[in-house]
Amino acid sequence: AGADTADTEGRPSAEDLSRASAGRVALVPTMGALHAGHLALIARAREIADIVVVSIFVNPLQFNESEDLDRYPRALDADLATIEAASGGAPTIVFAPSVAEMYPDGKTQTKLTAGNVGNLLEGRSRAGHFDGVLVVVNKLLGIVQPDAVLFGQKDAQQVFVVSRMVRDLNIAVTVEVVETVREKDGLALSSRNRFLDERERLAARVLSHTLEAADSAADGGIDAVIAAAQSASMGEPLVDLEYLAVVNPTTFLPVDDGYHGKAIVLVAARVGATRLIDNALVYLG
Ligand code: PAJ
Repeated sequence: AGADTADTEGRPSAEDLSRASAGRVALVPTMGALHAGHLALIARAREIADIVVVSIFVNPLQFNESEDLDRYPRALDADLATIEAASGGAPTIVFAPSVAEMYPDGKTQTKLTAGNVGNLLEGRSRAGHFDGVLVVVNKLLGIVQPDAVLFGQKDAQQVFVVSRMVRDLNIAVTVEVVETVREKDGLALSSRNRFLDERERLAARVLSHTLEAADSAADGGIDAVIAAAQSASMGEPLVDLEYLAVVNPTTFLPVDDGYHGKAIVLVAARVGATRLIDNALVYLG
């Protein structure tokens, strides 16, 4: 509270007590099992806001039956220690609600749909996934009422559908996107990486190598990118490519032949039993 708006007896004014006077609030939504990718979001939040809120909630609505909600790693105590260690003395608010608190009726009656883009790529093999993401993000925004909300570019389609919701529904929040954090050999950090055995971990490098090959070929245009990415993604018996796509960042739809400009190359693959995704921004010449 600012002393300049306190009354003569030093009591804070209504304005002092308002959210605005408490400083800028940034929300980092997560499902826990925190790694350095999440920590990069938290570090960025601290740069752009006075108060950082990290939510930890494994959202049942974004898992479908074939995906194992129960298998999702949960590690609240370790996550709290990780946040504390990474906060360097700065306070961080952690919001870790139960499923019953978030969904007293098991689910919401009100539905949101990510629309067309929600059914493509990640949405294709995970029906309803993005609709569930939008519901939980909307609820978290309503509960925390942050000025900014942070997402990782690692989940590019999630960034797109959330940004689109914020724009479509005039939600008063700034969406801040943080670059993908990678291991030294290029593998994007993911809570699923822990499921990879030693051979699979080595094989998983194929995803980032595919994106590097796509980037190197980008001057040659879309056909060159697809050809380079396809050949880089093959020849690794442990890796089963699910999709390889090049989309227009403004629509998230596949780019047309002859398109020039910014594009996102996306790859999804199964490495053994573990499904991994990655993407890179390229400039198609
Ligand atoms: P989760 O998978 O826990 O990811 C939380 C945030 O961390 C997302 O914005 C994700 O893009 C980001 N992230 C994950 N790996 C990253 C990496 N290697 N580099 C940078 N950022 C990374 O995404 C979700 O949870 C959920 O869908 C959620 C948004 C919390 C809604 O339930």
